[in-house]
Amino acid sequence: MTNFKFPKDFLWGGAIAANQAEGAYLEDGKGLSIVDLLPTGENRRSIMKGNVPALTPLETEFYPSHEAIDFYHRYPEDIALFAEMGFKALRVSIAWARIFPTGEDAQPNEAGLQFYDRLFDELLKHGIEPVVTLAHFDVPVNLIEKYGSWRSRELVTLFETYAKTVFSRYKDKVKYWMTFNEINMLLHLPFLGAGLVFKDGDHVKEIQYQAAHHQLVASALAVKACHEIIPDAMIGCMLAAGSFYPYTCNPEDVFQGMEKDRESYFFIDVQSRGEYPGYAKRFFKDHGLNIAMQPGDAEILKNHTVDYIGFSYYSSRTTSTDPEVVKNMTSGNVFGSVANPYLAKSEWGWTIDPKGFRITANQLHDRYQKPLFVVENGFGANDVVTPDGEVDDEYRIDYLKRHVAEMGEALQDGVEIIGYTSWGPIDIVSASSGEMRKRYGYIYVDRDNEGKGDLKRIKKKSFHWYKNVIQSDGSNL
Ligand code: BG6
Repeated sequence: MTNFKFPKDFLWGGAIAANQAEGAYLEDGKGLSIVDLLPTGENRRSIMKGNVPALTPLETEFYPSHEAIDFYHRYPEDIALFAEMGFKALRVSIAWARIFPTGEDAQPNEAGLQFYDRLFDELLKHGIEPVVTLAHFDVPVNLIEKYGSWRSRELVTLFETYAKTVFSRYKDKVKYWMTFNEINMLLHLPFLGAGLVFKDGDHVKEIQYQAAHHQLVASALAVKACHEIIPDAMIGCMLAAGSFYPYTCNPEDVFQGMEKDRESYFFIDVQSRGEYPGYAKRFFKDHGLNIAMQPGDAEILKNHTVDYIGFSYYSSRTTSTDPEVVKNMTSGNVFGSVANPYLAKSEWGWTIDPKGFRITANQLHDRYQKPLFVVENGFGANDVVTPDGEVDDEYRIDYLKRHVAEMGEALQDGVEIIGYTSWGPIDIVSASSGEMRKRYGYIYVDRDNEGKGDLKRIKKKSFHWYKNVIQSDGSNL
């Protein structure tokens, strides 16, 4: 399949997040973070949406992030496997609460800083470029208790301090940075995205957009600091992408599709173009939202825009204004979508749409005219280990093959893409469901939804497939 060769310097690799992989949730002085309060099971979704969680973990619940896959201790073994596949890049995140356990400590936690020194050194030893997200669903819990998380302006300065600390510390090791993972997630799962919890009577929309404003300013200040401290680095934003299709050519559907896309583009319009778009101002006015902005914010946003557009793509989305059609909804990276009758779905209801990947990449390119970085894409499935200890994940290979082929098409369309880090190259905890059963990896991890298993790593069939893809510069799918 396809003979197209990706550029020699294309950053092939994988992406994980601290909270879903590291475990060691209180080790070496780390403070509690958002995901440490998310149990598996029924409570998880309601907390992620903003219902108040227990602010200290309960004995009666199982919290999968607490041990996750123990990447904190096993990273040398895992990185050696990534190197064997030929990875050029690994996307990780820094756990803010490892560096500042309460988020507002006078001094950073040296043991936490040392962990990431060791991690980055290990990657560089294998010739793997670290790509680092500053906040991947991550806020120290103390900042939620004390300030209400990103609803408060205090977070901007605290985040800036954290960003400057890690830029200064790792300036010789890390050249690719990202500010907030899937920044648009705060509109859908506000606790997961931004540590927001709500009480009765709260004006939820206003709080969400106020928190968004704070994150956007914090992101711009991080861009400024990164450019000053590491002039040869690139720093990007990160969008949970996947364009909306109108269900029909009825202009009402088409217009709604445009509005749904703008809900997400809003963030990147500010981060990449440096100002609030007109449609956002109208939205605030129409919905009576009062967003507090300080003098100087507009200049900060204008002067410190991102160098590249990082995005995740799992599926396209579909929207309709017809009440009958919207009865048939499906999931897809937690963004509600009408089921698309032309497309199949994963076991978790996530639509499979390789062509949508090419469409999304082209649209982002047309809109922003900046390099794109695909920092997540992949297929969550419940793999089975055969009695001879093998995992035949042909369905994953099929998904990835078709998506990589469409990415090659997008490059040939003239879209500049600097790399592709597929999601969860080793099985990790699922963010939306907290399950281990929802696996994305080329490497299987022996651990189940209840936390049982010896954490042994097994190469799946896709391990060999991806190795071949990288070796052939994407020409051998
Ligand atoms: C993205 C997140 O939303 O999708 C990841 O950035 C997440 O953290 C990934 O894991 C896949 O979602 P899930 O819910 O299947 O883990």
